[in-house]
Amino acid sequence: MLADLVKQSQPLAADAKLLVLGGGYSGRCLAQLARSMGTQVLCTRRSLDSEEADLLFDSNGQEHLDPAALEGVTHLLCTIPPDREGNDPVLSKLLATLRSLPLRWAGYLSTTGVYGDRQGGWVSEEDAPAPALDRSIRRLNCEAAWQRSGLPIQILRLPGIYGPGRSVLNGLQQARARLIEKPGQVFCRIHVEDIAGACWHLMHRAEQGPLPTLAGTVVNVVDDLPAATSDLLRHAASLLDCELPPLEQFDQIVDSMSPMAQSFWSENRRVSNHRLCQKLGYPLLHPNYRVGLQDCLNQDTLNPSDLRSPPQSANG
Ligand SMILES: NC(=O)c1ccc[n+]([C@@H]2O[C@H](COP(=O)([O-])OP(=O)(O)OC[C@H]3O[C@@H](n4cnc5c(N)ncnc54)[C@H](OP(=O)(O)O)[C@@H]3O)[C@@H](O)[C@H]2O)c1
Repeated sequence: MLADLVKQSQPLAADAKLLVLGGGYSGRCLAQLARSMGTQVLCTRRSLDSEEADLLFDSNGQEHLDPAALEGVTHLLCTIPPDREGNDPVLSKLLATLRSLPLRWAGYLSTTGVYGDRQGGWVSEEDAPAPALDRSIRRLNCEAAWQRSGLPIQILRLPGIYGPGRSVLNGLQQARARLIEKPGQVFCRIHVEDIAGACWHLMHRAEQGPLPTLAGTVVNVVDDLPAATSDLLRHAASLLDCELPPLEQFDQIVDSMSPMAQSFWSENRRVSNHRLCQKLGYPLLHPNYRVGLQDCLNQDTLNPSDLRSPPQSANG
């Protein structure tokens, strides 16, 4: 719950001003944390009618983001994904403006997909990326562009994101969830509040002075427990006290899956959070899906009208 995150967080310096490029699911959560901590925030969205939309930014639109509106921004989070060609829509439009800001920290949300398939083995930031899927190759290109940007950048690699309104609980309630078993297959995940919490923690670390290059530039933001989606679904069904969907064996249904779903199931890795949690000292609020799903249930029950977009993957 955001209140727990606020409790474990320290305020930033009084002159800090945060720009969130893309106030979607993760961006909005960080913006809410920052506001609760008394930090000024500006959030961009593609429509000013959207929640938390302070500024309009659509890389495909005609309107330009006025650099004057960003004056004094000291911290930046970019959540905007690569475009279809694999270019970064923010850097192509805003790099000169961003370079003119007194930035002390810039975070870029990437994906653990850049590690490619590890056949269930552990992978850390010290392992070279080996993306096989087109979307992961595009993502690695964007990471490299941010690394070259000259900004004080930290790349945060994320697995499947879940949280209130966007978890396997909602999938079960809306009869969308499928109980699929593939022996040996696991997925990693992260609760959206831990993305916000990790960003906040890394902003503080940056205030303490530059980190040794290898220890800081890229950080996996994942929880402690890679697990099979079927384990999550069973746990979620027990929390909701509802029936499970019928059991399906992956081998028997793979040919009928969409290309997107097939690609999702084609990679198997356990992503380490050692750097974030041990070296950089971030205490996860939701260290595993059991804690995280209980939180989702509590928050969904408190805010039944706040059920946001459906999950993009089966990760949470
Ligand atoms: N979902 C996952 O499981 C997952 C896993 C690993 C990594 N990621 C990556 O992590 C990041 C955050 O994920 P999320 O689930 O929080 O994403 P999200 O809710 O979809 O938010 C993405 C944000 O990007 C903005 N955006 C998209 N295209 C844009 C464009 N052309 N110009 C300007 N703004 C644009 C969206 O604008 P609007 O607010 O107007 O829609 C939105 O605010 C994304 O890059 C995502 O690809 C996601």
